[in-house]
Amino acid sequence: MNILILGSGGREHAFALKLAQSKQCSNLFVAPGNAGTQQIAKNVNISVNDFEAIKDFVITENIKMLVVGPEDPLVNGIHDFFLSDAQLKEVIVIGPEKLGATLEGSKEFTKEFLFRHNIPTAAYQSFTADTVEEGYAFLKTLTAPYVLKADGLAAGKGVLIINDLQEAKDSLKEMLVDAKFGAASAKVVIEEFLDGIEMSCFVLTDGKNYKILPYAKDYKRIGEGDKGLNTGGMGAVSPVPFLDTEMLEKIETRIVKPTINGFQKDNMSYKGFVFIGLIRVNNEPFVIEYNVRMGDPETEVVLPRIKTDLVTLFKAVGNQTLNEVDLDLDERAACTVMTVSGGYPEAYQKGKEITGLENVTDSLIFHAGTTTKDGKIVTNGGRVIAVTSFGKDYKECLATSYKNVKKFNFDGMYYRTDLGFDL
Ligand code: AMP
Ligand code: GLY
Repeated sequence: MNILILGSGGREHAFALKLAQSKQCSNLFVAPGNAGTQQIAKNVNISVNDFEAIKDFVITENIKMLVVGPEDPLVNGIHDFFLSDAQLKEVIVIGPEKLGATLEGSKEFTKEFLFRHNIPTAAYQSFTADTVEEGYAFLKTLTAPYVLKADGLAAGKGVLIINDLQEAKDSLKEMLVDAKFGAASAKVVIEEFLDGIEMSCFVLTDGKNYKILPYAKDYKRIGEGDKGLNTGGMGAVSPVPFLDTEMLEKIETRIVKPTINGFQKDNMSYKGFVFIGLIRVNNEPFVIEYNVRMGDPETEVVLPRIKTDLVTLFKAVGNQTLNEVDLDLDERAACTVMTVSGGYPEAYQKGKEITGLENVTDSLIFHAGTTTKDGKIVTNGGRVIAVTSFGKDYKECLATSYKNVKKFNFDGMYYRTDLGFDL
């Protein structure tokens, strides 16, 4: 079968590698892709939100499966677009329809879903410009730090955690009244602060059945010791060493099952990944957020640990027969170290040549922000190359990745050397 992946990051390179390994995959395309996907698939110069161009390509190339990497096209309704088109409706689309994607597109929608289905999460209230005074009053009832979330998608910047009450009030006003995050902050969710350690649970579902994929933990801050600005992710480890059987059981019964049942109760047709952001507080799991896609760079450690043919899994998602497929996992641990462009997550340069990648032989190299120029591989984003390694535990994996990041280079390359410090 011919398959098209949408996206251009390390996540999509990891999908491409896994799909290319399947005997069931004939022609593999990535739109728009990067220099890494180009080595194993065919890159197509189409934007992930250009649904008409995607449609033409799918028909011309006889694509039977569409794997949607990022959330944007899902929130914009690409799955619904395929279902409502006579020529596209038989294509298997991996990623939820618009209603399900609202779990990532709106914080308030998510909180309502969580409360409706009795899934543990922080207490909250939401406010608009008309109720800003009530918002101030609610803040007063809470203790610091204060968690303020823009309701809509704000490029990962819409969550503020503030220690001072007056500052929290000022920020609430900036968000609601002065449109700090544009339309995304026309509504703001204020939440009780949860103090604990975070991890991620990845679920693949056909809407009825589900498979829990390997757990992972990512490192979001740019600086060592989890200091500094938030990034897309500076690295990840899988499995999460502190998750014991009791905690895994709690997560499945209190969170995963009610989530999938919630989809059915709410008539939310959901075929794809659910990325559940969790926090452990006093040995109890709480949901921080849902994403409706895989994480990046978590995908670069989760997919390599899956031995089952990914096309088989995705077909079963399309046919709602996921219960008939066994999920076979690699018991080894995996980690990934992300190398980034100097300056990221603020301003950084692009177009720097990357040399020495061929010297890495005992790790997987996933391209994030790369492209080719005059036959050379050059940087094309903040996050550039992820180096994934296997080992008996996270320490052994990290040692291999850290050995291998030294074998390649680009001008301004930076990475965190302390991943796993908190485990
Ligand atoms: P979100 O976009 O909702 O995942 O929030 C971004 C980050 O803010 C999370 O990964 C957490 O580190 C932090 N965060 C969000 N909500 C809370 C909360 N209720 N308590 C503590 N930290 C939070
Ligand atoms: N690594 C976090 C994310 O993909 O949202």
